[in-house]
Amino acid sequence: MTTAAHQMQQLREAAAYIQQHAAAFQPDCGIILGTGLGALAREVQVQHTLSYADIPHFPLSTVESHAGRLLLGELGGRRVAVLQGRFHYYEGYDMAQVVFPVRVLKLLGIGQLLVSNAAGGLNPDFALSDLMLIDDHINLQPTNPLVGPNLDELGPRFPDMFEPYSHALLARAESAARQLGFADRVRRGVYASLPGPMLETPAEYRYLRTIGADAVGMSTVPEVIAARHMGLPVLAVSVITDLASPGHLKPVDIQHILAAAANAEPRLTALIKAVLQGR
Ligand code: HPA
Repeated sequence: MTTAAHQMQQLREAAAYIQQHAAAFQPDCGIILGTGLGALAREVQVQHTLSYADIPHFPLSTVESHAGRLLLGELGGRRVAVLQGRFHYYEGYDMAQVVFPVRVLKLLGIGQLLVSNAAGGLNPDFALSDLMLIDDHINLQPTNPLVGPNLDELGPRFPDMFEPYSHALLARAESAARQLGFADRVRRGVYASLPGPMLETPAEYRYLRTIGADAVGMSTVPEVIAARHMGLPVLAVSVITDLASPGHLKPVDIQHILAAAANAEPRLTALIKAVLQGR
């Protein structure tokens, strides 16, 4: 186990490298783009692009559908830092690595985090390519990023999880969806995070529904835990890429998941832009 001081030093070195190579750009909002949801990146007026491979101590994405770049620029009139590609526990990273980029963005000055992911829909009311605003989560990963020495400079030993997803940002996203005319495709619900990489068995999908989950995926919760530890307000959106409710269950493959994500992408992009603009 690495000490807190060592972890903080690595985070500072990564942040310092980014500042040096991005003319001291100061983002005010961090964005994590999930599986197949990279199109939002095309909307960013990019000022600086950094490859993860060049940033000290940054992990590298091993998943093909994740690009592995940090974009700094403007979106919706805000200064954003976009993580194009994230790290999953199933890739073999430890949780400190999974959340390393989010912690670096906090050191760069973000005051808010927006997260997207692809998820299986458990709620029988959900349709393919719906967007689900995550309003709570259930962590079923084998561990979490706060295990180990506490990084006191980032947050407390026992962070509160009363409001994991910002009520204000949820309200803003819902109002944006209404104004954009697709409120019927925007749901709210509980996201369960499992390690993967295999999808769930029928019995596991039933179990997840029984314990109160509306959607299931393999990411997001570690980053949200790290963000809440640092006091960052979070908005997280799942794109429902397959239906796992009874009667809908069928074999899924990554191509279908990517196609469903692509279908939802214009709506996700419009929603995130509108939230950034504060509509
Ligand atoms: N289960 C877990 N993760 C997922 C799913 C799913 O059904 N769909 C997309 N990511």
